[in-house]
Amino acid sequence: MTLDTFGRPFRDLRISVTDRCNFRCPYCMPAEIFGERYEFLPKAELLTFEEIERLAGICVRLGARKLRITGGEPLVRNEVEKLVAGLAAIEGADDLTMTTNGYLLPQKADALREAGLQRVTVSLDSLDDDVFRKMNGRGFGTARVLQGIEAAERAGFAPIKINAVVQRGVNDHTIVDLARYAKERGHVARFIEYMDVGTRNGWEMSEVAPADEIVSAIDAEMPLERVESGYRGEVAMRYRYVDGGGEIGVIASVTQPFCGDCTRLRLSPEGAIYTCLFGSEGSDLRGPMRSGASDEDLAALIAGAWRVRSDRYSEIRTSMTGPRDKVEMYHIGG
Ligand code: GTP
Ligand code: 5AD
Ligand code: SF4
Ligand code: SF4
Repeated sequence: MTLDTFGRPFRDLRISVTDRCNFRCPYCMPAEIFGERYEFLPKAELLTFEEIERLAGICVRLGARKLRITGGEPLVRNEVEKLVAGLAAIEGADDLTMTTNGYLLPQKADALREAGLQRVTVSLDSLDDDVFRKMNGRGFGTARVLQGIEAAERAGFAPIKINAVVQRGVNDHTIVDLARYAKERGHVARFIEYMDVGTRNGWEMSEVAPADEIVSAIDAEMPLERVESGYRGEVAMRYRYVDGGGEIGVIASVTQPFCGDCTRLRLSPEGAIYTCLFGSEGSDLRGPMRSGASDEDLAALIAGAWRVRSDRYSEIRTSMTGPRDKVEMYHIGG
């Protein structure tokens, strides 16, 4: 087993397949920075599906059990279902899932399911059209995303998780409605504390709605009780409805960090690995891979990066001073 300096095993690989997105959520890709002329990675710099599948296979042999496809927005990468099929064929991975903003799910859900995707998580910050329009930065209403969720349901994905980033004063007044919507349909709503990922969103602690407040607000309308975590390293704290109507998750990465159990490695679209969501520098694998490195060479690079890992950013963020270089969320995935 590959352990890092704190004894944490490598269990999850999160694969970002593109740095592009059809949304411009201000907390991730503010439209004023990521305008028409913004230069995203050119195609030649992206890992091919074959390269991603090869690296994922090596990671599974090193101990990864969960594979998650993210972006940017993974569904804007052409024929991403072909990658899903390739990843589904890797023996030894227990879980293959995707985080998407749902906008392209109406036309993609069936193909993803047929290709072997096991689960899907849809980001939806609010059911309120006005709030949602602001939060996706593109003025899109919720209808397409809701159709996407329905398409995923029809395609056989269950349970579907719905992720909402909660920003105080922006969408915190709409969380109970979102919880109710998910409860009525058997989905799992998950509320994420707004984090200081990347360098472009001008994050301030005052904009964070703490998990305790989120849980209290929902509990007041629909009583909740705490559930034990499902597996070591689960980022969400789980609560179930006392009436038996399903559960929610709360991701308190700011007020109750979970670095102690962090088993996640992230692969960027151009083939660098990051051992932390808040990392500033990745280790390049594309270079060695394109100059003929063997699977053993690549495994040694990945295991080597994991062994020296000492990341625990969320636990120490308050003691870190000043701005610092960090990889962007749209680049490395949620
Ligand atoms: P399941 O496999 O369905 O349990 O999903 P997950 O718990 O891995 O959660 P998901 O991938 O949906 O992540 C939800 C959110 O949690 C992300 O969008 C991030 O905002 C946050 N998150 C996930 N992983 C990390 C992490 O390693 N560190 C921090 N600080 N936040 C994370
Ligand atoms: N804080 C918390 N979550 C974020 N995400 C993107 N940026 C942030 C942030 N600053 C989430 C998205 C989505 C996933 C890809 O990451 O909402 O659910
Ligand atoms: Fe796109 Fe997701 Fe970032 Fe929003 S949070 S801009 S949907 S990658
Ligand atoms: Fe893992 Fe870094 Fe997130 Fe902590 S801050 S949980 S070490 S990715």
